[in-house]
Amino acid sequence: MSYVSSDSVGVKKKVRVPDIRSRKGGKKITCLTCYDASFARILEQTSIDLVLVGDSLGNVIQGASSTTCVTVDDVAYHTRCVAAALRHPLLVSDMPFGTAGFSFEVAFSSAQKLIRAGAEAVKIEGATPEICTQISHLVRHGIPVLGHIGLLPQSVHMVGGYRVQGRGVGDCDRLISEARALRDAGCFGIVVELVPSDVAKSLSHSIDIPVIGIGAGCGCDGQILVLNDMLGMNLSFSPKYLKHFSLVEKIVREAIERYCYETCEGVFPSED
Ligand code: KIV
Repeated sequence: MSYVSSDSVGVKKKVRVPDIRSRKGGKKITCLTCYDASFARILEQTSIDLVLVGDSLGNVIQGASSTTCVTVDDVAYHTRCVAAALRHPLLVSDMPFGTAGFSFEVAFSSAQKLIRAGAEAVKIEGATPEICTQISHLVRHGIPVLGHIGLLPQSVHMVGGYRVQGRGVGDCDRLISEARALRDAGCFGIVVELVPSDVAKSLSHSIDIPVIGIGAGCGCDGQILVLNDMLGMNLSFSPKYLKHFSLVEKIVREAIERYCYETCEGVFPSED
């Protein structure tokens, strides 16, 4: 079996929200994050279905220890960078910390900034009644929303770290209720982060919208990873769920050392 999809070499079809929605229980949905035009240009040449401008840009781009420092203007800026080079995958942007659950005015103006920057949908962490209310308002105003439950990095200070969620008594039922509340609010799909695979599997079987897992096993309708992590751009970051599909940190380091060597030795630039 070839891992180069015919779509990535032939005529590509634009992926839209209903396409993602209709993949429930079908061909797995492939998703990665992206924060700039250089990587967006490469993603555009692949068969990836969905690209997320995640607030993980706080960790990956800004070097922060959590995502809580990320502003809506930060996400809008990186959305504009990605949108400049991305055509076919669905482009989703994260609503950062503090923008989703308080008032419709804040939620709508934040989502509006992201849509104006080029996002085609937004992702919102959490499933409290307040958040579900804002999601249903956004959806009614024409903004597609991807939900996010399980580990919520924006609530890291509340939960006290990046730990596996959903292991306690009743946690599976609670996650299923949250997923149903998000579906009822109008989400077209849900990201589930860092929960045991049997919990994620039950969750996927319990709702009729796609469940996209990260650190949630193989029973989901799709997978999402942080692009920089799966490429091995920081090899010291290797949580159990992560697979390094490349060793970019090593490749880049060797290229830079070769450049330094060749420059110092007069090999580069060559004379002619
Ligand atoms: O911010 C992000 O990159 C995310 C994904 C890891 C799901 O939320």
